[in-house]
This record gives sequence, C-alpha cells and structure tokens, in this order.
Amino acid sequence: MEVPFKFGKLAENDNFVDRVEDRRKLKQLLSSGINVMLVSPRRWGKSSLVLMATRELMTEDKRVRVCYIDAMGIHTEAEFYRVFAREVISCTSSVLEKRLDYVRRFLRNIKPGITLSSNSSEAMTFDLKFDIDDVDEYEILNLPQKIASEKGLKIIVCIDEFQQLAQIPQYKSFEGKMRSAWQSQQNVSYCLYGSKRHMMLDIFNNSTNPFYRFGQIFFLKKIPVNEWMPFIMNKFKITGKKISKENSSKICETVRCLSWYVQQYCYFVWSNTSREVTSDILDLALSQMIEMNTPMYENDTENLTSAQFAMLKAVANGEYKLNSASVVKKYDLGNAQTITRNKKILQEMDFFEKVEGVEKYEFCDPVFEIWFREKYMK
Ligand SMILES: Nc1ncnc2c1ncn2[C@@H]1O[C@H](COP(=O)(O)OP(=O)(O)OP(=O)(O)O)[C@@H](O)[C@H]1O
Ligand SMILES: [Mg+2]
Repeated sequence: MEVPFKFGKLAENDNFVDRVEDRRKLKQLLSSGINVMLVSPRRWGKSSLVLMATRELMTEDKRVRVCYIDAMGIHTEAEFYRVFAREVISCTSSVLEKRLDYVRRFLRNIKPGITLSSNSSEAMTFDLKFDIDDVDEYEILNLPQKIASEKGLKIIVCIDEFQQLAQIPQYKSFEGKMRSAWQSQQNVSYCLYGSKRHMMLDIFNNSTNPFYRFGQIFFLKKIPVNEWMPFIMNKFKITGKKISKENSSKICETVRCLSWYVQQYCYFVWSNTSREVTSDILDLALSQMIEMNTPMYENDTENLTSAQFAMLKAVANGEYKLNSASVVKKYDLGNAQTITRNKKILQEMDFFEKVEGVEKYEFCDPVFEIWFREKYMK
C-alpha cells in the first residue's frame, strides 16, 4: 500500500493541504505582475506553495509560463546566467528546434549545447555554453521580457533559496544588475524565496540594498491545526485506518504545525498502526522520528561553543533576560560581549527566535527542542 504521508519531496496535488488564502494571495500578486519575496523558516512549505500556485496560474491562463531556478547549486555569476537563460528558454519553448532558434535570435555570442542522454526522460537535454567575458549580462537578464513581449506571454521566474546568491563573489555588483534589469520588465514577475530569513530580509528589507522595495514581502504562515486535521484523518481513513480528532490534533501540537514534521510524524504513526492509532503508538512514532533526525541535529550542534550550549539551555528553561546577572551566573553564559554575540548568532542560525508580543524566546524547531531537552537537560 502506498504510504499516504510524504516528506522530503514537494507536496503536490492530493498531498498538498490547501493553503487557500496563501495560494490566492500569491497567485494574485504574481498574475498582476508584482514581484514577490516569500520568506519562512525551513520546511514550512514555500517551495510546495510556489509550485502549486504557479501551476494553477498556468492552467488558468494559457499565456503564463513559469520557470523554476534553484539557487542552491549556483556558485558563480556566470553559472547563474547560464541557468537563468536556459530555464527561461526551456519554459517558453518546448521543442528543441524552437529553443535553438531563440538562442540564435535573442542571445548573441552564446552557443547552445545539446547532450544526448540515455537515462533522462528526454532524449536530448538542452544547455548553453559561453564565456562570461563574451556575453552582455543585461542581454541575459532581459531575456524573459524580450521573449514575453514578442510572444505575447507572461513569464514568472521563480528562484528558490535566493539568498544563496549573496554568497557569490562580486554579489554586490551582480545584485545591482539584476535589480536594474528586472525592475522595468512589464511582462515578467519574479518570485524569490528562501529559508534563511535573516539573509532574505537583509536583501529585501534593508533600504541600503538594491532589492529594497523590489516587490511585496510575503511571510508564509504555518498551516493551522484545523486545516491539518481533516487532511490527516482522511489519509488514515482512505487507507483503512483510524485516527481520532484528539490524536490528530496532538500530532500537530507536538510539532507545532510545522509542515515537514506533521508529515513525518504522521508517516511514523501511520506505519505503526494496523487499525487504530493509540497514545502508545504516538509515543513510539515520536521516538522513531527523533531517532531519524538525530544525525541532523548532531550535525547542527557539532560546532557550538559551550557558552552557546549554555544559552540554548537557558532558553529551553524559559529564560528571557539573558544578560541579567542571575541568569548569566546560573548558566555560565560568559561576558556581556559573548552573550550579545551568541544571541545574534543563534537566532541567525534559527535555533530560537523571539515570540511576538511577549517577552519570550522559543526554539524554531520543535522536534530539535525535544531532542535537546532529552539529551542535555535530563
Ligand atoms: N501545503 C502542504 N500540505 C502538506 N504538506 C506540506 C505542504 N507544504 C509542505 N508540506 C510538507 O513539508 C515538506 C517541506 O515542504 P517544502 O519543501 O515545500 O518547504 P520549504 O519551505 O520550501 O522548505 P526548505 O526551506 O527546506 O526549502 C514537504 O516535503 C511536505 O512534506
Ligand atoms: Mg524549499
């Protein structure tokens, strides 16, 4: 029987909890030509949402074309141009002849490369070859607009993990070029998203940076319990198993509705259940999930200093005034400078964050928190 809960892949179709309001908002912005910068912590569902929303836009309007670029694997400006041009051309023309024709017409000095492949679903894969010194960057950055206006299309360029581009050497000048080319494009909208919130906000929300006010910043929210519950209960039901309302809501609460963990926890609960979910199964599944994620947590904490560990313990105990003499002494947090620096670093690394409106810090990752408490605070 196929497991009805999926994690590690983008959620799509009947694995996707509706996010009605988010989809509507994202679709509306992008189809009105407004650029969107979508920000949320890791694994809340940005990439899945963008995929579903843009797919819908394509079915609703035949003139819409969407290309998806993952900035994660891009390490140089030249590589970005190559991937950008290749994806824009590929999404606007499905057949090889047309792609070659587009390269000839729109990109001087650039040669298409064709690879015959034996293991991909396409017999021939299309790519581009050029020397960065021979190309005009603006010609590439303006490519979507040129194709869109000539062909009567609306193009949406989606760039995932956009903040990774900031790691490229010479990013400052590269950033300026992107902004000045993209800003004036009438038939193209950009959806730029990423999970490193501090970096994303620095790129888009800092008035001294070129991308300031490039479009609408959209903070993705979590999927609420009342949307998860029917999804979870139905998945159990259609596979001949049963879960109560209480237990499905308990799953959501344990992982604080974090999309990836809801799916992962459900996966283990479902796998351990032959007929009906019990509280013992919930406990067992939780320990299996923690075990599965342990290597990742160990990796994340491997390079923390002892003062940083101490600060995590203080936060786990609900301390807020991390500079106060009693807290510093109780946990051995180090001198004032160290404390300020660690507070900044640990928040930038998404270990914890300030809860809005109250004097409280909270761990960003609820399952990491359970693991941390069990391992270091017993
Ligand atoms: N709308 C949804 N309905 C059901 N499950 C979802 C939904 N969105 C995300 N998920 C679950 O969360 C996981 C992570 O989703 P996704 O990769 O879209 O998040 P992300 O924010 O892009 O993550 P990352 O920061 O790692 O890139 C998916 O594999 C899926 O299990
Ligand atoms: Mg993603």
